[in-house]
Amino acid sequence: RTTAPRLTVIGTGYLGATHAICMAVLGFEVLGVDVDRTKVERLAAGEVPFFEPGLPELLRKALDSGRLRFGTDFAEAAAFGDVHFVCVGTPQAPDSDAADLTYVRSAVRRLAENLDRKALVVGKSTVPVGTAAELTALVHEVAPAGEEVELAWNPEFLREGFAVQDTMNPDRLVFGVGSEWAEQQLRAAFAPVVEAHGTPVLVMDLPTAELVKVAANSFLATKISYINAMAEVCEATGADVTALAGALAHDARIGGRFLRPGLGFGGGCLPKDIRAFKHRAQELGVGQAVTFLGEVDAINKRRRARTVDLVRELAGGSLDGARIAAWGAAFKPDSDDIRDAPALDVAVLLQDAGAQVTVYDPEAMDNARRAYPQLSYADSAMDAARDADVVVLLTEWAQFREVDPEILAGVVAHRRVVDGRHALDRDLWSSAGWEYRALGRP
Ligand code: UDX
Repeated sequence: RTTAPRLTVIGTGYLGATHAICMAVLGFEVLGVDVDRTKVERLAAGEVPFFEPGLPELLRKALDSGRLRFGTDFAEAAAFGDVHFVCVGTPQAPDSDAADLTYVRSAVRRLAENLDRKALVVGKSTVPVGTAAELTALVHEVAPAGEEVELAWNPEFLREGFAVQDTMNPDRLVFGVGSEWAEQQLRAAFAPVVEAHGTPVLVMDLPTAELVKVAANSFLATKISYINAMAEVCEATGADVTALAGALAHDARIGGRFLRPGLGFGGGCLPKDIRAFKHRAQELGVGQAVTFLGEVDAINKRRRARTVDLVRELAGGSLDGARIAAWGAAFKPDSDDIRDAPALDVAVLLQDAGAQVTVYDPEAMDNARRAYPQLSYADSAMDAARDADVVVLLTEWAQFREVDPEILAGVVAHRRVVDGRHALDRDLWSSAGWEYRALGRP
């Protein structure tokens, strides 16, 4: 690919590392840049600093090809790249629901200060609508090449646990651009993806591209909270939300994906994205249009409290001194991410209510230990369950589904299980003598 653009990826966290690695594997020369020297050194040494299936193998392949490098120098990035992808985080601000744009602003500024020739800066981070316009002004002000530098927005929809697949073969590519030239640059950067899979490319203006991402995540969060709201109604009527969801899923207009009831959503995206969107809409004077996102958030949080109630009920009405095995810490299976993890929230609520909680997670133990040193941890699902009064499944890892309830019965004090994710086979567990409870099921 002699005419292929050279790419830089600014920010080598979850999104940036995956993007840099995949683009190098697809044949581009890529430089990954981060202010965090340790992160950069680990990646350069072939070590992915987080859990993501398939990514370590691709990192080694990309490094072996000689097309992927990592560094901390923005001047080097500016000199090297034709297209610069900005992949830094936009966490929730410490004191409000707004997104914290500090990292995006500083990454774009530090890069732009060094851009002395025509280049494209492409935002990938999830941002409040209007950020691209603000950053365009910033780039034009500080870049030595001035208005020669253009800004585009290319939102990223990757899911943790499927990051490689979602990057190599996305459902669609969204290009928010202000010129024909910017569109051509992005088409060149994604040519291998589109050639391999015929991926639909949707070209639009910048604010629409920014909105696609928050609108998509808001829809997904709403779908989950919708079925969880139905679970609340089910509990009041003796109906079964898993049967309800299964029947709704057969309507092709509704569909079964993101309709799994349970403990609700967490992670580094959905919770903060709906809050930031609501905040931004208020700033824009259209807060009313998305008031429902506050409800979506509230329903989601109620699931955590309700799970604690179910455990308390099973424990005989009080959690004081109850020994609870908490299976799962990550916000979802196949991830070591504990950001806004419903599982750990529930574990802490149980402990605050007087329970002795022992947590086990297949991948998120180190992160959990660091963030919640007050909880106890075990080395396996079985160890966590030793002498437990109640076992509560909080993250639906495959290994928890596969546990034999007959064998587990031999280690617990009482055969009582709360299935926070509808992951266990109720009939199997009941016939092994377990008292089984799940959100939204009789
Ligand atoms: C999400 C979006 O899916 C992705 O497109 C975006 O780029 C980033 O945010 P991710 O946070 O990795 O991805 O996780 P996802 O698989 O979407 O799950 C989010 C949460 O919803 C998890 O806590 C999961 O357990 C929960 N969930 C998901 C449900 O409770 N029910 C469902 O039916 C689906």
